[in-house]
Amino acid sequence: MTGLFKKFKNTGILVIGDLMVDQYVWGKVKRISPEAPVPVVEVTDENLLLGGAANVAHNILSLGGKVYVAGTVGSDDIGKIVVNKFRESGIGADGIVVDRDRPTTVKTRVIAHSQQVVRFDKEIKSDIGLATLSLVLDYVRACIPAIKGIIISDYSKGMITKALIAKVLRLCGPRVFVAVDPKVGHFEYYRGVSLITPNIAEASFGSGIDISDEKTLIAAGKILLKKINCGSLVITRGDEGMTLFERGGRITHIPTCAREVYDVSGAGDTVIAALTLAHSAGASLKEAAIIANHAAGVVVGKVGTAVVTPKEVLESMKICPDKPGKQNNQPQRTWRND
Ligand SMILES: Nc1ncnc2c1ncn2[C@@H]1O[C@H](COP(=O)(O)OP(=O)(O)OP(=O)(O)O)[C@@H](O)[C@H]1O
Ligand SMILES: [Mg+2]
Repeated sequence: MTGLFKKFKNTGILVIGDLMVDQYVWGKVKRISPEAPVPVVEVTDENLLLGGAANVAHNILSLGGKVYVAGTVGSDDIGKIVVNKFRESGIGADGIVVDRDRPTTVKTRVIAHSQQVVRFDKEIKSDIGLATLSLVLDYVRACIPAIKGIIISDYSKGMITKALIAKVLRLCGPRVFVAVDPKVGHFEYYRGVSLITPNIAEASFGSGIDISDEKTLIAAGKILLKKINCGSLVITRGDEGMTLFERGGRITHIPTCAREVYDVSGAGDTVIAALTLAHSAGASLKEAAIIANHAAGVVVGKVGTAVVTPKEVLESMKICPDKPGKQNNQPQRTWRND
């Protein structure tokens, strides 16, 4: 495992997706506004966290991989901050296009006395235009010699279109592993990719089967593999871990370790980052999925931050070697299911 992790630093991954910013405004409320029946928040602190595809990129960086990003920001101050944050942390940001037709996607939460007072979102979710698409594809073309994998992080904010995926697949050919974190409503875009990682709700929607037990899970997985014609499929199952479906019929359930959970948001970003990085560095899909399951397990146990280091993954593997999860105390099961 340590040998594999050492290879991460020479494993280039390009993340293409919807870049998002989570902005937090902290303050105190001492009075109600004279203008309307709303609290007046006296601001004491503010901070910005990168979310969506930007969080996927940070997860790869934290795992020790080499990461490049393609996406859009608006021609606004927050957009400049995003690009600078990337550059400062050593993430290739030349693929970030300043799109004058849309703002940087920002979700602002105002929090007073540990309680959210309001959230407001700035975003335009229409598909990117031809000029942006063409700039992104130029960047993808330029990156291909330096990368082993591409992650398409789709949050349905307009960056990921059917045309973009078709052209990316044509550009990279079979050498580059293309993994997609999908969004409901876009499943027909993903035909022919190497891997998709839906959660239970997304897999239920995409397959048309309501996943409620092992039988329906397996039926949905088989339908999705066939329908999307993808190389493999990982259905993430929250506290039950994940299930890997491979071509040829192998199905592997990977349960989670029992652990304290603080914040499950962003776990899906960690899964696709760790899985793609590990597989692109030489791990088999099953090994990569086991690593990703540990990585996501570490992340859900953290407050606020949503990234994980190789050291933390190794520690989790030591604590939980055969992943006897809370669901079972059974060893991990693998069987053929043709
Ligand atoms: N309660 C938990 N305990 C341990 N591991 C967890 C827990 N919840 C999630 N995970 C880990 O995170 C992975 C992804 O979680 P989930 O299936 O909820 O994805 P998601 O819905 O895409 O998440 P996101 O909130 O990022 O969109 C799981 O496969 C598992 O490895
Ligand atoms: Mg998700």
